[in-house]
Amino acid sequence: MTLQVIDLTPRVGSEIRTDVETLMSGSEAATIRNILEQRGVVFFRGLDIDDAQQVAIAETLGNTVASEGEGGIYKISLDKAVNQRADYLKGSLFWHFDGSLQPYPNLAALLRAIKLSETGGQTEFCNTYAAYDDLPDDEKKSLERLRVVHSAARSQFYVNPEMSYAELEMWQRAPSKSCPLVWTHQSGRKSLLLGATADYVEGMSVEESRALLARLRDWATQPRFVYRHEWQVGDLLVWDNTGTMHRALPYPLDSGRLMHRTILAGEEPLL
Ligand code: OGA
Ligand code: MN
Repeated sequence: MTLQVIDLTPRVGSEIRTDVETLMSGSEAATIRNILEQRGVVFFRGLDIDDAQQVAIAETLGNTVASEGEGGIYKISLDKAVNQRADYLKGSLFWHFDGSLQPYPNLAALLRAIKLSETGGQTEFCNTYAAYDDLPDDEKKSLERLRVVHSAARSQFYVNPEMSYAELEMWQRAPSKSCPLVWTHQSGRKSLLLGATADYVEGMSVEESRALLARLRDWATQPRFVYRHEWQVGDLLVWDNTGTMHRALPYPLDSGRLMHRTILAGEEPLL
């Protein structure tokens, strides 16, 4: 069986129908990566795979990052008993991409639904290539050279708006990073670079820069650029972390919701 691709919205998100053998063999890996770059998000339903197969499939698509989790699988849960960094992961409820503070943000992530919450817990994705492409030309020009300072402390404000001095100091220990507002990729395509770590625009007043970041986030996350994934247990979903933002919709912390994540190392620097 080769691939059957079903686009779920005009601009973002596709279901790919295929079988486990095809995915494991890597024979369609180049095609899948291509679809991923065009569509931002792809998912496979009903594969019935285990952790080792998830990692094996990931390895056909890129270089897996083993430093997180065990055996290439990292447990995404907001329950501290399951993941000690649950407080940090609460930031995933706000629009973001992963690794904005790293020199090479992750290329992609694979998320497999192990257990779902009875309420909430869908994941939304917006296509930041499409959001950039649809900006008016004069706006593209005015954004061209802007740079945004990103920090872990900024994203923690969403989770804990009244951090103590000690908490703030702890988060501020992680160095902030200056990123372009428009990411020009090696392919030549451009995407908007926003997200919860985005703090302020260099050289702009606080008011002006916060207003610009909020306006652009509204723009990038409007319904025509967004795909909302309604999970079924066993779904294997992949997002292009360099051309999308994502967020989980709220769900009870003790719902037992559990995702197994494998990440693919970044292949292009964010300078
Ligand atoms: C992530 C993430 C969202 C979700 O794994 O990076 O943001 O729906 N997950 O769990
Ligand atoms: Mn994330």
